[in-house]
Amino acid sequence: MLYESADQIIMNPLAKALAQFWKSSIGKKIVVGVTGAMLVLFLLGHLAGNLLIFQGREDLNEYAEFLHEMLHGWGVWIARIGLLAAFVLHIVATVALTRQNRAARENRYEFEETNVASKSSRIMIWSGLTVLAFVVFHILHFTVRIDPLLAGMVDPVKPERHDVYGMMHAGFRGFNNLWVVLFYVVGITLLCSHLSHGIASIFQTLGMRSEETRSTTHKLGLGISVLLWVGFLSIPVSIAVGLKVDETDPSSLSDLPPIEVDIEREVIQENALPPDQLTPPNVPEPAPLPPNN
Ligand code: HEM
Repeated sequence: MLYESADQIIMNPLAKALAQFWKSSIGKKIVVGVTGAMLVLFLLGHLAGNLLIFQGREDLNEYAEFLHEMLHGWGVWIARIGLLAAFVLHIVATVALTRQNRAARENRYEFEETNVASKSSRIMIWSGLTVLAFVVFHILHFTVRIDPLLAGMVDPVKPERHDVYGMMHAGFRGFNNLWVVLFYVVGITLLCSHLSHGIASIFQTLGMRSEETRSTTHKLGLGISVLLWVGFLSIPVSIAVGLKVDETDPSSLSDLPPIEVDIEREVIQENALPPDQLTPPNVPEPAPLPPNN
């Protein structure tokens, strides 16, 4: 039997309802809003975890180890799949919505409102694409760890676990990593500008914004974006300018010679024998002088 259009194919009621939901503009807006909210929650959690770097190696590495080992290693994969699904759906729904808006704009019977929405969504698409490039770079940098130096770092106290603390320091420290830090600054700044508009839109899309709450949702969007911007950037910037150092890294201690000298002295003193046990060095007796003629 031949069908003239996809609509004619008999679908089960749930699939039909989902297809209709997706087809409608409001359906896609809800997908963008809900997935956007999930991504913002991930970012707040990721920031809280990353800030443990300021508490020290043990706390950050223990937290990273917990993430990798929760639910016998399945937890991180469940989170990754959920995150990836939210990210892909967020992008696909945004692109579909923009296309739908563009098509509607060409139709002169559509409302003026559609025009306005499509302009702001175009800016959102560009900042969103930069964020996508940032995320791909960031995953290669810290999750896949294409740099063997970062991949091979182990916790000095617990060598069976990865040294996320040392990796963050090594990844942002030094002249060679200045361009990496710059890329993080640009990527995170664009991410936060994307969010300052996006978070307020989530409330509107989900029907939680009215004339009275408009200013509050706007402030909330701005507040969360500034918090994420300051929090995330505090890490690469403080490491790059030398405010945050890895205490166990010899290259970061090189400008502290007095401590090294003291340690050396202590070791020499510890190994030294008490004066009564000291034997004179085995120096050969000087040969007798030849008699004077
Ligand atoms: C300077 C700020 C940031 C730092 C220091 C940082 C640090 C890290 C580290 C160390 C990991 C690897 C964790 C591990 O495997 O143990 C990671 C993973 C990840 N980060 Fe970030 N991150 C930052 C900002 C961001 C931002 C802004 C985003 C999103 C736009 C993001 C998204 C991710 C994602 C998606 C993963 C992969 C999670 C996984 O699959 O394991 N990060 N980050």
